[in-house]
Amino acid sequence: MTTAAPSVQTRELSDAPDWWRQAVVYQVYPRSFADTDGDGLGDIKGITSRVPYLAELGVDAIWLSPFYPSDLADGGYDVADYRDVDPKLGTLADMDELIAQLHAHGIRIVVDIVPNHTSDKHVWFQEALAAGRGSAARERYIFREGTGVDGAEPPTDWESLFGGSAWERVDDGQWYLHNFDVSQPDLNWDNREVRDDFLTTLRFWSDRGVDGFRIDVAHMLTKDLTEPLPSRAQLEALPFDGTHPLIDRDDVHEVYAEWREVFNSYDPPRTAVAEAWVHPSRVPLYASAESLGQAFNFDLLEADFDPAQFRRIVADNLALAAESGSSTTWVLSNHDVVRHATRYGLPDAERGADGRPTRKHGNEWLLSGGETPVLDTARGERRARAAATFVLGLPGSAYLYQGEELGLHEVAEIPDADRQDPTFFRSPGIDQGRDGCRVPLPWTAEGSAFGFGAKGAHLPQPAWFSAYAVDRQDGDPASTLSLYRRALDLRHELQTDEQLQWIDAGRDDVVAFERPNGWTVVTNFGTESAPLPAGEVLLSSAELTGDALPAETTVWLRRS
Ligand code: BGC
Repeated sequence: MTTAAPSVQTRELSDAPDWWRQAVVYQVYPRSFADTDGDGLGDIKGITSRVPYLAELGVDAIWLSPFYPSDLADGGYDVADYRDVDPKLGTLADMDELIAQLHAHGIRIVVDIVPNHTSDKHVWFQEALAAGRGSAARERYIFREGTGVDGAEPPTDWESLFGGSAWERVDDGQWYLHNFDVSQPDLNWDNREVRDDFLTTLRFWSDRGVDGFRIDVAHMLTKDLTEPLPSRAQLEALPFDGTHPLIDRDDVHEVYAEWREVFNSYDPPRTAVAEAWVHPSRVPLYASAESLGQAFNFDLLEADFDPAQFRRIVADNLALAAESGSSTTWVLSNHDVVRHATRYGLPDAERGADGRPTRKHGNEWLLSGGETPVLDTARGERRARAAATFVLGLPGSAYLYQGEELGLHEVAEIPDADRQDPTFFRSPGIDQGRDGCRVPLPWTAEGSAFGFGAKGAHLPQPAWFSAYAVDRQDGDPASTLSLYRRALDLRHELQTDEQLQWIDAGRDDVVAFERPNGWTVVTNFGTESAPLPAGEVLLSSAELTGDALPAETTVWLRRS
């Protein structure tokens, strides 16, 4: 393994065991980041080639979405082998080199672990199919007999989270449970071999220098499948209090207590962050030091660009973090949701009851064909910049999703024939799926696949990507990329402990808070200018004129 000298100014890798508490973590969706071998898919060497970019951006860590061997039935969340690299993306040696380069540049690496289900191509599932009913191989998964004549009906009427039945029948007539795609059979976490194998996987990557883990659907592993199984209606009537048969069971923390022993056997201890879509009162269980140690807070994914909502979400999540002793996480975008520049540019009427945009509008967002586009791109970007600088001023750790530092919008104009996401195929016509936020990044305004790779991109990039390319924004002080670089740089300088003091701005549309040493963050969520508070301006998400804080703008000030 060679470790070339860092070519850009780098920070030292912090040895502090709590490096994660206020880290800025950049999510890399590897197949859409950078392609070095010209197959249209991003690869590990592509990420390594961009480590200087990540260092210049100033992130503390990357979270790498699955890079394991996979048929890509669910963008890599269908894992065929947890202890190898997808040959389409590279080799274990490439991963070693990536880890070494990241560390040499002062950046830590968190990898995705997908424990609820494997791919149907995993050797265990293939063994289960071959071994037949009653076998030990089937015991690693959740196989049941069907109902009705000849067992031709599924064991229950449960629905997959991606749409359609949660059960699939195999050749000998048994059915297996899949809470996600049919290619993602759920594992049986009552099985000791399953538990031991994941401990081996956690040690495998920790031994290779991985610093932490993001745990996919951390709230769904353990299940109570005592017969008779409840119906969907019966399930829906049950409370989520730790005893639900399928979701957020108390006993999942027995699994994580064993993981914790592994994490703590390393120096510094390996970290973990739970993707757990649970009631807020249950989040501290996942975030506690005895369990995974940190949990995602997704509230901002579902919020409007609204001062009352932002303020409430901050207050609630700081309180929840204090309850668990962990730090909270701030997330505006990830690989599962519509990019926030686009969410914030849509009229409220285009948003669903849960606050998220309704995806069914598809191409109309960007291709209105009329005088007035449905999506106001400039407004979305302006608000996105204000929201990001608000979030980066908060205590706790911030998770950025690749491309948000470019102000990228969702790509709505993907032809149906090019779509890949199973949520699109399993709910035809209802859900456009998640491909629009997974389109390969534009590195250059010109050239093949906007600098992503020599021979195109696995999802089509629109012509407007050119204006967002890294080389267009590099060196332009007004660009979103420059704003993020400056914010991350300043954050390193200013960030001390995790205190936050609210400041009364005297008006409802302005939210302000102060961090230690006079670092003050003020966001005008409104559509009119507000008075600019006194202090030295350190950063502004939009150009300032005179002593006004423009609409939809965040400033960082140093108050003396
Ligand atoms: C991941 C998704 C994935 C699902 C199933 C999620 O929560 O973030 O991208 O489709 O888990 O693994």
